[in-house]
Amino acid sequence: MTKDLRVNADRMLASFNQLTLFGATAEGGVHRPTFHEAHLAARRWFREEVERSGLEFRTDGAGNHSAFLPVVASPSGAKQSPPRNAEIASELSPLATTLLLGSHLDSVPNGGRFDGALGIIAALEVLRTVKESGSKLKVNLEAIDFTDEEGTLVGLLGSAALTGHLTPAMLQTPRGGRENLVEGMQRAGLSDESMLNAARPRESLAGYLELHIEQGKRLERAGINIGIVSAIVGIWSYRLSFIGRADHAGTTTMDDRLDASLAASAFTLGARELVVKDFPGCVVNVGKMDFAPGAFNIVPERVDLSLEFRSPDEEEFKRLDVALLELAGHEALRFGLALRVEFLGKHSPSLMSATVQRAYAEACEDVGLTHVSLTSGAGHDGQSFADVCPVGMIFVPSVAGASHSPREFTKWDDCVNGANVLLQAALKLSAE
Ligand code: GLV
Ligand code: MN
Ligand code: MN
Repeated sequence: MTKDLRVNADRMLASFNQLTLFGATAEGGVHRPTFHEAHLAARRWFREEVERSGLEFRTDGAGNHSAFLPVVASPSGAKQSPPRNAEIASELSPLATTLLLGSHLDSVPNGGRFDGALGIIAALEVLRTVKESGSKLKVNLEAIDFTDEEGTLVGLLGSAALTGHLTPAMLQTPRGGRENLVEGMQRAGLSDESMLNAARPRESLAGYLELHIEQGKRLERAGINIGIVSAIVGIWSYRLSFIGRADHAGTTTMDDRLDASLAASAFTLGARELVVKDFPGCVVNVGKMDFAPGAFNIVPERVDLSLEFRSPDEEEFKRLDVALLELAGHEALRFGLALRVEFLGKHSPSLMSATVQRAYAEACEDVGLTHVSLTSGAGHDGQSFADVCPVGMIFVPSVAGASHSPREFTKWDDCVNGANVLLQAALKLSAE
């Protein structure tokens, strides 16, 4: 193992630039929702790039795509021995055989170029660098692109499937709608059955590492190179439907309406006030409202509202859940409406492994970079691994904190810094 090994920054940039062409938008971002044409094209490109790099390409029933670097040539597929020697590696499961490095190629609608993409390109570059160096490792390395991290369809879908957390119920009531999920899976040659059979034996997972942009302003403000994530927030989501009555918008008096938009609007404002006042560690978002029938001249009969809230603390979450649903019930009653509540999914807050955090800190010191411990307010695939194997993430600075927007930007030197820390941490965790 060499502390001097560094990624090839030019090669990594060339790959990153090619990837940004898929789903490129006029505003300078990318639009690559899960299984849309641009996402499928980016996945095809990744496969070709893996093969061009002389790495083995692998895929699974959840549509996760990987570059695979077996560490020891084992012509007969002989079982490899577990990691030894290195102090940190010795804390990993003795049966573990593969260290995963990954992120995602899907994007939010009209998103940025770095979210997910940087982690994929860096993971691939780490494998290329290790392969070239001939470093001897005791676990396989795998650079993995997880299906549907962003939640266009389900959220953390590929990682949930791989870690055995995916349930039939999650596929029946996905937050992106069952019809869209089925159509998308068909386009990608996948099915409920293949998804549910994609779980790997836990003992085969040595750990999961991810490099990501921070998507906030803390690193930039502090002038620090690398954020080492201590915990990832949990995310719960619901669809709330306020249901009233459609009427003529010109002839129905104002006091004779059952207008679904009123409760939806009051709820949105009330939810914000509630969180600001009583739940300072949490955030809430109403990201979508659909009005039906949806016309200038019809009083809205129904509003479907997409509600998501986040907290790093499980107990706080439960209290916020109750408070938000009570508020929705109160607003429905106030405006004479019915309320339908559809629970769409829950990702618990996740603690990152102390061992992996230590490996990152040592890696930063080896590379000569400053670092700080911070929590993640964004969801990440690492959540799926938190109860399965050691998991850890690092962040690099986001200019002005912008993310989920075409304004998303990270300086290339910072991207390369992150890739070098990822490389050195991977070597520490897998060294012979
Ligand atoms: C993913 O980026 C999320 O936090 O929603
Ligand atoms: Mn992401
Ligand atoms: Mn994202």
